[in-house]
Amino acid sequence: MKNIVVLISGSGSNLQAMIDACQDGTVANARIAAVVSNKADAYGLERARQAGIDTVHLAAAGYSDRDTYDRAMAECIDAYQPDLVILAGFMRILSGEFVRHYQGRMLNVHPSLLPKYTGLHTHQRAIDAGDKEHGTSVHFVTEELDGGPVILQAKVPIFDSDTVEDVTARVQQQEHRIYPLVANWFLQGRLNMADENAIFDGKELPPHGYAAE
Ligand code: GAR
Repeated sequence: MKNIVVLISGSGSNLQAMIDACQDGTVANARIAAVVSNKADAYGLERARQAGIDTVHLAAAGYSDRDTYDRAMAECIDAYQPDLVILAGFMRILSGEFVRHYQGRMLNVHPSLLPKYTGLHTHQRAIDAGDKEHGTSVHFVTEELDGGPVILQAKVPIFDSDTVEDVTARVQQQEHRIYPLVANWFLQGRLNMADENAIFDGKELPPHGYAAE
């Protein structure tokens, strides 16, 4: 049985998708060993408790700086001997030391078609730019913010009448499908990172990741 540790800051809908996927076998032979949040009121912590998963709340306010906080977080994650660390709406910048420690076994889902729209407010920025197409990316985490190699993307349309809520919901629906799929690839040994490239079934993936179309 492989161990996953999930880091969250908010609602945890991607965490829920991962919990369900571990239960129904979409992610095979794996369990979520713990959920770590930097926010005490993250609803994802409640989702974890309901699923009988250990939860940890680590408030950044208790630590003098980012490096110290991240070291405490790594200590707490490592106690669960994770094969895979999953960032699921974890809204903190990570220190280089933390990223290097988990390099090659830490994934993130980012709500845009990377390399477009790194950072925050991606849906609003796509709407404001008049984009007709938007989406989400699952990628390995490297020291460059939202810059690690893309593994899989899912595209969604943006319609003229869309609000940011419409686009968010459409994107998240896709995240809930692709993130467990990628976690499963990784845990089955089909996916790894080498020289900051994503390798799938022994082949380097192109810049936009696995082409599912
Ligand atoms: C997700 O849509 C994810 O793409 C985004 O936060 C949301 C978390 O939702 N992540 C980022 O913006 C990271 N830069 P959730 O808590 O319901 O899973």
